[in-house]
Amino acid sequence: METDHHAHWEARYAEKARIWSGRPNARLAEIVGGLTGSRALDLGCGEGGDAMWLAEHGWQVVAVDVSTTALARAAEDAEARGVLAHIDFQQHDLTKTLPDGPFDLVSAHFFHTTVEMDRLAILRRAAATVTPGGTLLIVDHGSAPAWAPEEVHHHEFPPADEVLADLALDDTQWETVRLGPVERDAVGPDGQQATIADNVIQLRRK
Ligand SMILES: C[S@@+](CC[C@H](N)C(=O)[O-])C[C@H]1O[C@@H](n2cnc3c(N)ncnc32)[C@H](O)[C@@H]1O
Repeated sequence: METDHHAHWEARYAEKARIWSGRPNARLAEIVGGLTGSRALDLGCGEGGDAMWLAEHGWQVVAVDVSTTALARAAEDAEARGVLAHIDFQQHDLTKTLPDGPFDLVSAHFFHTTVEMDRLAILRRAAATVTPGGTLLIVDHGSAPAWAPEEVHHHEFPPADEVLADLALDDTQWETVRLGPVERDAVGPDGQQATIADNVIQLRRK
Protein backbone atom coordinates (compact mmCIF):
# COMPACT_ATOMS: atom_id res chain seq x y z
CA MET A 1 0.00 0.00 0.00
CA GLU A 2 1.25 3.49 -0.83
CA THR A 3 2.30 5.50 2.20
CA ASP A 4 0.40 8.73 2.67
CA HIS A 5 2.95 11.15 4.07
CA HIS A 6 0.57 14.06 3.51
CA ALA A 7 -2.24 12.57 5.61
CA HIS A 8 0.15 11.64 8.41
CA TRP A 9 1.67 15.11 8.71
CA GLU A 10 -1.63 16.93 8.23
CA ALA A 11 -2.97 15.02 11.23
CA ARG A 12 0.15 15.92 13.24
CA TYR A 13 -0.09 19.64 12.41
CA ALA A 14 -3.87 19.62 13.10
CA GLU A 15 -3.11 18.78 16.75
CA LYS A 16 -2.10 22.37 17.55
CA ALA A 17 -2.33 25.88 16.14
CA ARG A 18 1.50 25.96 16.05
CA ILE A 19 3.90 23.09 16.69
CA TRP A 20 7.32 24.70 16.32
CA SER A 21 8.62 27.97 17.77
CA GLY A 22 9.11 30.02 14.60
CA ARG A 23 12.75 30.50 15.65
CA PRO A 24 15.58 29.07 13.53
CA ASN A 25 17.26 25.88 14.61
CA ALA A 26 20.42 26.61 16.60
CA ARG A 27 22.82 24.82 14.24
CA LEU A 28 21.32 26.50 11.18
CA ALA A 29 21.95 29.99 12.52
CA GLU A 30 25.42 29.07 13.77
CA ILE A 31 26.63 27.26 10.64
CA VAL A 32 24.89 29.15 7.85
CA GLY A 33 25.73 32.46 9.50
CA GLY A 34 29.29 31.80 8.32
CA LEU A 35 28.42 30.85 4.74
CA THR A 36 27.89 32.84 1.58
CA GLY A 37 25.53 31.97 -1.24
CA SER A 38 22.24 33.00 -2.74
CA ARG A 39 19.84 30.06 -3.26
CA ALA A 40 18.86 27.75 -0.46
CA LEU A 41 16.61 24.69 -0.28
CA ASP A 42 14.99 23.83 3.05
CA LEU A 43 13.80 20.21 3.08
CA GLY A 44 10.85 19.53 5.38
CA CYS A 45 10.59 23.20 6.35
CA GLY A 46 7.64 22.71 8.72
CA GLU A 47 6.30 26.04 9.93
CA GLY A 48 9.17 27.91 8.33
CA GLY A 49 11.43 29.03 11.20
CA ASP A 50 14.61 28.21 9.28
CA ALA A 51 13.31 29.49 5.93
CA MET A 52 12.40 32.86 7.45
CA TRP A 53 15.78 33.16 9.14
CA LEU A 54 17.52 32.36 5.84
CA ALA A 55 15.42 34.96 4.00
CA GLU A 56 16.19 37.52 6.69
CA HIS A 57 19.88 36.81 6.12
CA GLY A 58 19.87 37.43 2.38
CA TRP A 59 19.03 34.00 0.94
CA GLN A 60 16.43 33.26 -1.72
CA VAL A 61 14.78 30.20 -0.29
CA VAL A 62 12.81 27.32 -1.70
CA ALA A 63 11.07 25.82 1.32
CA VAL A 64 9.43 22.44 0.90
CA ASP A 65 7.09 20.41 3.03
CA VAL A 66 4.48 17.73 2.46
CA SER A 67 2.03 19.43 4.84
CA THR A 68 -0.15 22.12 3.32
CA THR A 69 -1.12 23.24 6.83
CA ALA A 70 2.50 23.78 7.85
CA LEU A 71 3.21 25.63 4.61
CA ALA A 72 0.18 27.91 5.08
CA ARG A 73 1.31 28.78 8.62
CA ALA A 74 4.85 29.40 7.40
CA ALA A 75 3.67 31.67 4.57
CA GLU A 76 1.45 33.64 6.95
CA ASP A 77 4.36 34.21 9.35
CA ALA A 78 6.75 35.03 6.50
CA GLU A 79 4.35 37.68 5.24
CA ALA A 80 4.03 39.16 8.74
CA ARG A 81 7.84 39.27 8.98
CA GLY A 82 8.15 40.89 5.53
CA VAL A 83 10.15 38.08 3.93
CA LEU A 84 7.52 36.23 1.89
CA ALA A 85 8.90 37.64 -1.37
CA HIS A 86 12.18 35.83 -0.67
CA ILE A 87 10.67 32.42 0.04
CA ASP A 88 9.08 30.11 -2.48
CA PHE A 89 7.02 27.70 -0.38
CA GLN A 90 6.38 24.51 -2.33
CA GLN A 91 4.34 21.48 -1.42
CA HIS A 92 6.09 18.25 -2.33
CA ASP A 93 6.02 14.72 -1.09
CA LEU A 94 9.78 14.43 -1.32
CA THR A 95 9.54 10.69 -1.87
CA LYS A 96 8.07 11.61 -5.25
CA THR A 97 9.26 15.06 -6.34
CA LEU A 98 11.97 17.58 -5.51
CA PRO A 99 12.30 21.23 -6.60
CA ASP A 100 14.72 22.02 -9.39
CA GLY A 101 18.20 23.13 -8.39
CA PRO A 102 20.83 24.34 -8.33
CA PHE A 103 21.21 25.45 -4.72
CA ASP A 104 24.17 26.91 -2.84
CA LEU A 105 22.76 25.43 0.34
CA VAL A 106 20.58 22.41 0.94
CA SER A 107 19.47 22.20 4.55
CA ALA A 108 17.61 19.28 6.11
CA HIS A 109 16.92 19.93 9.76
CA PHE A 110 15.25 17.13 11.69
CA PHE A 111 13.95 15.65 8.47
CA HIS A 112 12.52 12.72 10.38
CA THR A 113 9.20 10.97 10.16
CA THR A 114 7.66 7.93 11.78
CA VAL A 115 6.16 6.95 8.42
CA GLU A 116 8.36 4.59 6.41
CA MET A 117 10.38 6.70 3.97
CA ASP A 118 13.63 6.27 2.03
CA ARG A 119 15.15 9.38 3.59
CA LEU A 120 18.64 8.62 2.33
CA ALA A 121 17.41 8.49 -1.27
CA ILE A 122 15.81 11.93 -0.84
CA LEU A 123 18.98 13.36 0.71
CA ARG A 124 21.08 11.89 -2.12
CA ARG A 125 18.83 13.46 -4.77
CA ALA A 126 18.94 16.78 -2.90
CA ALA A 127 22.74 16.55 -2.63
CA ALA A 128 22.92 16.35 -6.42
CA THR A 129 21.38 19.84 -6.63
CA VAL A 130 24.20 21.50 -4.62
CA THR A 131 26.52 23.79 -6.59
CA PRO A 132 30.33 23.44 -6.48
CA GLY A 133 31.44 25.27 -3.32
CA GLY A 134 27.92 24.87 -1.91
CA THR A 135 26.86 23.18 1.32
CA LEU A 136 24.78 20.18 2.27
CA LEU A 137 23.74 20.53 5.90
CA ILE A 138 21.92 17.67 7.60
CA VAL A 139 21.05 18.03 11.27
CA ASP A 140 19.39 15.02 12.85
CA HIS A 141 18.14 14.33 16.32
CA GLY A 142 20.79 12.48 18.29
CA SER A 143 18.46 11.77 21.21
CA ALA A 144 14.88 12.44 22.21
CA PRO A 145 13.82 14.64 25.11
CA ALA A 146 11.41 13.16 27.67
CA TRP A 147 8.51 15.16 26.23
CA ALA A 148 8.84 13.74 22.68
CA PRO A 149 5.88 11.63 21.50
CA GLU A 150 5.98 8.01 22.66
CA GLU A 151 6.67 6.65 19.16
CA VAL A 152 9.84 8.75 18.89
CA HIS A 153 11.38 6.98 21.90
CA HIS A 154 11.31 3.72 19.99
CA HIS A 155 13.31 5.24 17.16
CA GLU A 156 16.98 4.66 16.69
CA PHE A 157 19.14 7.74 16.28
CA PRO A 158 22.00 6.68 14.02
CA PRO A 159 25.21 8.65 14.62
CA ALA A 160 26.28 11.23 12.05
CA ASP A 161 29.18 9.14 10.72
CA GLU A 162 26.80 6.23 10.10
CA VAL A 163 24.34 8.46 8.23
CA LEU A 164 27.19 9.87 6.15
CA ALA A 165 28.45 6.37 5.33
CA ASP A 166 24.93 5.25 4.39
CA LEU A 167 24.53 8.29 2.14
CA ALA A 168 27.44 6.89 0.13
CA LEU A 169 28.23 10.20 -1.57
CA ASP A 170 31.20 10.37 -3.90
CA ASP A 171 34.24 11.24 -1.72
CA THR A 172 35.92 12.94 -4.64
CA GLN A 173 32.97 15.37 -4.85
CA TRP A 174 32.47 16.18 -1.17
CA GLU A 175 34.58 17.53 1.68
CA THR A 176 33.41 16.87 5.23
CA VAL A 177 33.47 20.13 7.15
CA ARG A 178 31.79 18.99 10.34
CA LEU A 179 30.56 15.62 11.54
CA GLY A 180 29.24 14.55 14.92
CA PRO A 181 26.99 15.34 17.85
CA VAL A 182 26.53 18.77 19.41
CA GLU A 183 24.69 19.17 22.69
CA ARG A 184 22.15 21.90 23.24
CA ASP A 185 19.66 22.93 25.88
CA ALA A 186 16.08 22.31 24.85
CA VAL A 187 12.84 23.59 26.32
CA GLY A 188 9.66 21.50 26.07
CA PRO A 189 6.11 22.66 25.40
CA ASP A 190 5.43 23.04 29.14
CA GLY A 191 8.74 24.72 29.91
CA GLN A 192 10.57 21.46 30.74
CA GLN A 193 14.33 21.61 30.28
CA ALA A 194 16.75 18.99 28.96
CA THR A 195 20.10 18.63 27.26
CA ILE A 196 19.78 16.86 23.94
CA ALA A 197 22.14 16.06 21.08
CA ASP A 198 21.95 17.19 17.47
CA ASN A 199 23.88 15.09 14.94
CA VAL A 200 25.50 17.46 12.47
CA ILE A 201 26.67 16.57 8.97
CA GLN A 202 28.10 19.57 7.13
CA LEU A 203 29.54 18.85 3.69
CA ARG A 204 31.00 21.14 1.08
CA ARG A 205 30.75 20.26 -2.58
CA LYS A 206 34.13 20.42 -4.30
C1 LIG B 1 10.37 16.88 12.52
S1 LIG B 1 9.67 18.01 11.35
C2 LIG B 1 10.96 19.23 11.21
C3 LIG B 1 10.46 20.56 10.69
C4 LIG B 1 11.51 21.67 10.55
N1 LIG B 1 12.57 21.31 9.64
C5 LIG B 1 12.07 22.06 11.89
O1 LIG B 1 13.25 21.82 12.13
O2 LIG B 1 11.32 22.61 12.71
C6 LIG B 1 9.77 17.10 9.83
C7 LIG B 1 9.09 17.80 8.67
O3 LIG B 1 9.27 17.02 7.49
C8 LIG B 1 8.07 17.03 6.74
N2 LIG B 1 8.02 15.80 5.94
C9 LIG B 1 7.94 14.54 6.40
N3 LIG B 1 7.86 13.67 5.37
C10 LIG B 1 7.90 14.41 4.23
C11 LIG B 1 7.86 14.09 2.84
N4 LIG B 1 7.75 12.83 2.42
N5 LIG B 1 7.94 15.10 1.95
C12 LIG B 1 8.07 16.39 2.37
N6 LIG B 1 8.11 16.75 3.67
C13 LIG B 1 8.01 15.78 4.59
C14 LIG B 1 6.97 17.09 7.79
O4 LIG B 1 5.74 17.56 7.30
C15 LIG B 1 7.59 17.99 8.86
O5 LIG B 1 7.23 19.33 8.69
